[in-house]
Amino acid sequence: MAVDLLLGLQWGDEGKGKIVDVLTSSYDIIARFQGGPNAGHTLEFEGNKHVLHTIPSGIFHPKAINLIGNGVVIDPIIFIKEIEGLKPYNIDFNEKLLISKKAHLILPTHRLLDAASEASKGKAKIGSTLKGIGPTYMDKTGRNGIRVGDILASNWEEKYKHLSIKHLNMLKSYNISIDYDLDDLESEFFSSIENLKKFKLVDSEQYLIDAQKEGSKILAEGAQGSLLDVDFGTYPFVTSSTTTAAGACTGLGVAPNKINEVFGIFKAYATRVGSGPFPTELSDSIGKTMAKVGNEFGSTTGRARRCGWIDLVALKYCININGVTQLMMMKSDVLSGFNKIKVCTAYQTEKGIIDYLPYGISNKEVAPIFEELPGWKEDLTDMTNLDEFPVNFNNYISYLEKALNTPIKIVSVGPDRKQTIFR
Ligand code: GDP
Ligand code: IMO
Ligand code: MG
Repeated sequence: MAVDLLLGLQWGDEGKGKIVDVLTSSYDIIARFQGGPNAGHTLEFEGNKHVLHTIPSGIFHPKAINLIGNGVVIDPIIFIKEIEGLKPYNIDFNEKLLISKKAHLILPTHRLLDAASEASKGKAKIGSTLKGIGPTYMDKTGRNGIRVGDILASNWEEKYKHLSIKHLNMLKSYNISIDYDLDDLESEFFSSIENLKKFKLVDSEQYLIDAQKEGSKILAEGAQGSLLDVDFGTYPFVTSSTTTAAGACTGLGVAPNKINEVFGIFKAYATRVGSGPFPTELSDSIGKTMAKVGNEFGSTTGRARRCGWIDLVALKYCININGVTQLMMMKSDVLSGFNKIKVCTAYQTEKGIIDYLPYGISNKEVAPIFEELPGWKEDLTDMTNLDEFPVNFNNYISYLEKALNTPIKIVSVGPDRKQTIFR
């Protein structure tokens, strides 16, 4: 079978970009299957640091084809800026980048609606990245959306007008004042659309079907994390796409029986950016140290990420939902120096102790129950070999593997491509 899947098992920012980049040399095609510019996937190599939003994380590899799948939503303005940001790397996009004609477009008015929706929620806001993700997926499932393939038709501006007028009317119903200059927004949008037309716009599902027949190796790249999945995440504090394994089937046209390995990525601790429940969140000095050492600021919005201990109840749930076959543990280096490492193994609820993810996981509904493991002092960032790991760190890995009943195949000890250790 030719398709492997890589996805986040927490609330995003697990380090997906880094690992896709590391693994790309073993694949012919890297295909992003959902999300949009709400994602920020960071790659570090040879002294470069680069954050990708829409473009798959295999783009720096000399050979691999990078495909933006039908499940992705594309903001042409952000996409073109992303392309411009990659100029120093001399990438041949005509050769290496394909965009699905079935991917939906984020209109400027989708972003305005996102802002109005969030403002109208007050304290109950989702903490959206304000990239227009929710409204764009609403139009997709509501069968009103505009797809990349539409921009090739002569009447597409009529379609655009029809939808944007509808959005502007919806905006009025929020009764919230939002500053914008539609002429400016539209002029940037239409010039980006003209640029978008120059890229290879393809029937991506057919491309992938043919590639599979030819024996190409394909890696499907997820965005966000399983706990932000619109069905299985901490609803309504989620994103609007299927971030779990099923999203690769609908977002690329890959059949479930063609999926081979499912790589699940998690941080050695936990983070969340935006609102919503987070049972193991730490508001004390330990949480602050994690944030500082881990440089936990959103790659897309720059917002501070909330930090806490690893949550095995949630991780087990995500491993099961996704059918994870191999785990990859990221940011292990950030835990060096803590005397004790805590691991949440169960939740205390009103009805007793449970070890599965219930309907609600707010602080009122669950309290984490922790086990404590001894920490380690050694800096891991220069380690290149498993033999160098401190005993207590090895114990932590073995403990997690046993509790999660899944092998940890990669341990990441720093942001650089090279700081990756295979087990
Ligand atoms: P993604 O959205 O899953 O691709 O993750 P992000 O790029 O948003 O966030 C992960 C952050 O952690 C980035 O700044 C990475 O450069 C960084 N990172 C990745 N792996 C490691 C690691 O093992 N250790 C440290 N210290 N940083 C890492
Ligand atoms: P990557 O791919 C972390 C969060 C937002 C907000 C919620 C909804 O880099 O891991 P949206 O803009 O999608 O409507 O926001 O989801 N969120 C992310 N958090 N990493 C991401 O992507 C995220 N994409 C969205 O902060 O809480
Ligand atoms: Mg990110």
